[in-house]
Formats: sequence, structure tokens, C-alpha cells
Amino acid sequence: MRLSFQPPATLPSLFLILPSLTAALGINCNDVRHDGVHWNLTPLDGPHIIYQIKENTNTIRNTTFSINFCTFLERPHHVPTDEQCPSGTKVCAIERLTNKVENVTEITDIIPIAGEYSHTIGGALDPKWTRLKSSESSADRNREGVRLQMRGRRVHGQDQKAIVEFLCIAKQGEKTLTAEDEEDHKYGNAVDDGHDGTIDILSWEDEKDAKVLRLQWKTRYACEDVENEGSSSSGGWGFFTWFILIVFMGVAAYLIFGSWLNYNRYSARGWDLVPHSETIRDIPYIFRDWMRSVINTVQGGGSRGGYSAV
Ligand SMILES: *[C@@H]1O[C@H](CO)[C@@H](O)[C@H](O)[C@H]1NC(C)=O
Ligand SMILES: *[C@@H]1O[C@H](CO)[C@@H](O)[C@H](O)[C@H]1NC(C)=O
Repeated sequence: MRLSFQPPATLPSLFLILPSLTAALGINCNDVRHDGVHWNLTPLDGPHIIYQIKENTNTIRNTTFSINFCTFLERPHHVPTDEQCPSGTKVCAIERLTNKVENVTEITDIIPIAGEYSHTIGGALDPKWTRLKSSESSADRNREGVRLQMRGRRVHGQDQKAIVEFLCIAKQGEKTLTAEDEEDHKYGNAVDDGHDGTIDILSWEDEKDAKVLRLQWKTRYACEDVENEGSSSSGGWGFFTWFILIVFMGVAAYLIFGSWLNYNRYSARGWDLVPHSETIRDIPYIFRDWMRSVINTVQGGGSRGGYSAV
């Protein structure tokens, strides 16, 4: 027996590559998963901007935080390159200092806090999702939502990190919160994005291993019951996609293995290599005949129906 079949190396390794491929694509907002819970955060896609103002006697420090965690922040052409974060950025801070005496404003710092730079200047986004209810901290366990941690590159010799906490607020709670947000808005540390909820800056400071921006995003899309409405259908699609993929790979493996067998055992060449090559070659004719009979049945059935009605 010469049956020392070695499966082509590409097949199993493809299965290993797939998860890392999706990880490389970054964040899939419509399919956020952790601990068996699914969220769809797609409605929060797009850029969101929060200002933090610190006023002293002579200066105003105005920090603009921009976040687009689903896709990436755009880099408008009319803004000079050195006044923006690099491409691939998801969270960016731009600091402007106004000298009240001289009445001049200048950009004093640009910090890309989180982004995917592994293919350009280096530094991976490395996104991590944590369901608050299954978090290690007991304070989190009473709350509903999900936390996203993102990384990027070192800036000023320091690692950077953004941690966004998506907190569930019930629909009726959204209204009372809006009143509070008006209050917050005066201090410039919250944005009310209408249906998207509100974003607050909790802190932006040096922590153990990095400088960390902590944001809290109150939104109903962080609620676990909201996502569950849509999860069955998207879960269904996920299964269907995998099913197709597996069937496809099965057929491919069968054809490759069969061809290899034919090659080795029967020294087949060309078309004869392919298993069931006659059947495969006949498929167009079988299909044509089948279509003809379907058409005949439909037409015949229709006219017969016509006669019997008379
Ligand atoms: C802070 O800077 C942004 C961007 O330049 C500007 O739109 C906003 O009005 C500024 N806020 C204050 C209070 O100066
Ligand atoms: C600062 O300068 C701007 C124009 O550059 C002017 O519109 C504004 O009134 C000035 N503010 C003060 C306080 O002088």
C-alpha cells in the first residue's frame, strides 16, 4: 500500500490563520463578544469629539479628544499633516494652549492614544473586550455593559492606552441623563450625541504601565438585552458562513485527495485526475436538461391549468 496520504499543509493552517486574520482587521463593531454575550455597537460608529478645558489666570488649555473605535479617524485634507494624528488612529488627543494676554492659540501636543500601526509606524491596537458583569472588579459586577481596551504606540517614551467603558442606560434613563449632560457640557467634558448617548472623560493620567485615557460612554447599545434581540440572526449568519466555508473546504479537500489518489494509483493525468471527472464534465448538460424540464413543467402546467378551467 502506498497510502501515505499527507493532507496539504494549507488546509489545516488556514483554520489557524482565520482567527488571527479577523483580529488583524481590528474591531468588528456589529459583533462584539465576551463571556457568551453579544453586542452590536455599530450605531456608535463615526467620529466623536470631547473637549476638556482647563483655565488658568493667563492660559486656557483646550484638549480635543477624538474617538472612532469602529473604524478609524479620518484625516481631513485641509488640516496640515503635523496637526493630526497618524493614519490608523482610533483615539487622538490634540492639546491647544491659548495665551490670554497675547491672545494667541497654538497646538502644543498631539498624542495618538490608540490605533493600529503595526503595518506602518509600529504598534498594535490589540483590542480587548470585557463584559462588566464578569469583570474581576466587584464594583463592575453590578453594572451592565462592556469595556474596550485599546493600545497603540509609544509617545514621548511612554506606552499609551485607551479604556472605554460602554455603560448600559435604560431608555427612560436616557432622558434624565440628558439633563445632567447639559450640566456637564458647560465644563466641556461630556458630549451628548443624541441617540448615541453621552461620553465622559473619567481620567487621563499615568498608570502603572502606561498613560491611560478612561472614557465612559453611557448608551443603550451597551445593554445586554438590546443586543440579544439581534444576536440570533447575526449568530445565524455566522453559522451559515462557517457552514459554507467548511463545505467548500471539504469539497476542495476531497478533490485534492481524489486527484492525488488518481495520480498515484492510476497514473492519471489532465482531466482524469479529478475524481468523478465525467460527472463534473456533464454538469452543464445535466443542468441544461433539468432547466428544460422545469420550464416545460411550468409552461405545461400553466396551459393545462388553463384548459381545465374552461
Ligand atoms: C477648543 O478647541 C476646539 C477646536 O479648536 C474648539 O472648537 C472649541 O471651541 C474650543 N473650546 C474652547 C472653550 O475654547
Ligand atoms: C483674540 O483675537 C481674535 C482674532 O484673532 C479676536 O476675534 C478676539 O476678539 C480676540 N480676543 C481678545 C480677548 O482680545
